[in-house]
Amino acid sequence: MINGSSPEPEYIVETAGLKRYFHLGGSEVRALDGVDLRVARGEFVSIVGASGSGKSTLLNLLAGLDHPTSGSIQTTDGQLTTMSPGQLARYRAFEIGLIFQSFNLIAHQTALINVEMALLFLGVAKKERQRRSIEVLTRLGLGDRLHHRPDDLSGGEQQRVAVARALVKNPKLMLADEPTGNLDKDNSRAIIQVLAEWNQQGGTVILVTHNLDLARQHSQRLLQMDFGKMVSDSGTGGQQT
Ligand SMILES: Nc1ncnc2c1ncn2[C@@H]1O[C@H](COP(=O)(O)OP(=O)(O)OP(=O)(O)O)[C@@H](O)[C@H]1O
Ligand SMILES: [Mg+2]
Repeated sequence: MINGSSPEPEYIVETAGLKRYFHLGGSEVRALDGVDLRVARGEFVSIVGASGSGKSTLLNLLAGLDHPTSGSIQTTDGQLTTMSPGQLARYRAFEIGLIFQSFNLIAHQTALINVEMALLFLGVAKKERQRRSIEVLTRLGLGDRLHHRPDDLSGGEQQRVAVARALVKNPKLMLADEPTGNLDKDNSRAIIQVLAEWNQQGGTVILVTHNLDLARQHSQRLLQMDFGKMVSDSGTGGQQT
């Protein structure tokens, strides 16, 4: 800014030396083995890698669902590793949208209630919760499925409800772990398209996927993990080019 120098990129999340080791029956599994990752606001990052390479372990740490063995996770809300359980719960509720391979919907509640519940912890009033939830579900083509329960929806529709639940709070960071793993080609494309559109409006997405074609098509940056390490990064972590 001053003297023409470019402003510091604002990282939504920045890890340094991130490690997560598991100990099982006397052996050590280095699920994450020193990951330095910077994700800038507005990026769409895809992560690929063999089964067991540490992708879910990384996403769980970024979501504040797990604690690293060592290393740091800096977010715009502060250092995750030093947050109290209450602060972490708040971070997850307000800042993180999570989408998994298994849709994780509440079976006995309607699509609408499943989405509304994401706003419950945020202190949004009932009418506003309902209005925002209907708006997002309708945008995802589920306007005529609001009162269906998950069992009465197709797999693709269930995943769209899960995406709506993550989008409705407009999180700072969307973490999607194999969100298309249980879907056919058309439904997979539709889900990634929704994430891509949200990203085009400024949202930040980290997507774990085995679908290299979809990743290449929609994300600006492709990361590859192997044995707990980041072995390639097509992007620059927010540097302007
Ligand atoms: N709770 C745990 N206890 C012990 N080992 C674990 C635990 N969670 C993960 N691991 C191990 O850590 C490694 C990384 O697992 P992770 O789930 O992150 O892989 P992944 O890249 O997501 O694989 P996939 O593509 O199959 O989902 C694996 O070897 C796994 O067995
Ligand atoms: Mg996984």
